[in-house]
Amino acid sequence: MSKEIKGFSKLTKKEKIEWLSKSCFKDGDSAKKILTQYWNIDSNLQKLHDEFSENTISNYYLPFAIAPNFLINNKIYTVPMTIEESSVVAAASKSAKFWMKNGGFKAEVIDSEKIGQVHFLFSGDKKILLEYFNFVKPYLFESTKEITKKMESRGGGINSIELIDKTSELDGYYQIFATFNTVDAMGANFINSCLEEFAETFYKSVLKFNHRELKQKDIEIIMSILSNFVPKCLVKSSVSCRVTELNKLEPETKNFAEKIVRAIEIANIDIYRAVTHNKGIMNGIDAVAIATGNDFRAIEAGAHAYASDGKYKSLSRAYINNDIFYFELKLPLAVGTVGGVTNLHPLVKLALQILENPNSKELMNIIASVGLAQNFGALRSLVTSGIQKGHMKMHLTNLLNKHNASEKEKESALIYFKDKLVTSSNVENFIKKIR
Ligand code: MEV
Repeated sequence: MSKEIKGFSKLTKKEKIEWLSKSCFKDGDSAKKILTQYWNIDSNLQKLHDEFSENTISNYYLPFAIAPNFLINNKIYTVPMTIEESSVVAAASKSAKFWMKNGGFKAEVIDSEKIGQVHFLFSGDKKILLEYFNFVKPYLFESTKEITKKMESRGGGINSIELIDKTSELDGYYQIFATFNTVDAMGANFINSCLEEFAETFYKSVLKFNHRELKQKDIEIIMSILSNFVPKCLVKSSVSCRVTELNKLEPETKNFAEKIVRAIEIANIDIYRAVTHNKGIMNGIDAVAIATGNDFRAIEAGAHAYASDGKYKSLSRAYINNDIFYFELKLPLAVGTVGGVTNLHPLVKLALQILENPNSKELMNIIASVGLAQNFGALRSLVTSGIQKGHMKMHLTNLLNKHNASEKEKESALIYFKDKLVTSSNVENFIKKIR
């Protein structure tokens, strides 16, 4: 079977599926059946989804779930979460319920600045380059007027444009380093359009500058792109309660509150633990980001870079002071509530409606609070019963489905495993026994 193909993107959807079923499967018919089974009967809706990406042949479902009872800044939110991992939404909801009774989450956006760079090489005199930069800077603003007009009417735009000398790290390397306010948009397209315009103007305006010691050939534009490291697009969410109140939550665990503090101390000194700890936070963050149509890869990249300031550490912090337990999460979050797929994807629109159409800052507060709740839920399990108990309970249905269990079999399994360990082999044995 040859898998090489030219012009795949030019094929119709049906032709693509035909090619795929012949080239990648012995039994192409069952592959075809699965792919077409996921098509939406509403052809307009299907077309909308097909057009989100190149070479679309079907839809990929993920659960769209709800975590209720999130009290954030004195407002109750019902939070949509899109994630396949079975215990995540249950853990978030359980944490939200506890913190609702204990004052809720206090969240604030510290700053919302976005960043973009034009990376270029310059081989001439630094002083002349600086002179040229000061000359060209007004033209950089001027040349992007058409792009920034709409953003400015919403209160955003370009905040600053600077020249950065990086020659000590790489020969001849400089940046045009710009900061932006993209208001309620994540702003990737806006920023990248501005940057590409900067690059062109920067190169072309050399002729206008008309200096005998500066020639266009001295400048080599390498690339223009936004940065997903946004340490100044920062949000913080926190909770606190009396230590006695927290310890009541897990009466069988001695010093529950202190154990949570220790768990974070461990994450701060050990990278193996820190990465897993932060992954647990990102379980919640990504799930809300996906449900609300945000770029979770950008959020992930930015969050982990932020966690690595000097040494990779926990994104959350916990401490006890005067018998009060404090727990907080601070991280960069570049999210939008307009633009991208937010106004296109019907489920994303619905997710934003469920959140009562927040602006981007409110959404930052919500997402950070869910991340903190998720971290609390994970640590709560880890320092008490262990993660597997709750995790495998939630996973039981998946294991039963693997054996095509009937509804009746599922009911008996739920009763049987109430006080027994759920493992893949225990479920297999149980199914064998009852059949
Ligand atoms: C699993 O998806 C997430 C956890 O591993 C997080 C953690 O260990 O803190 C449970």
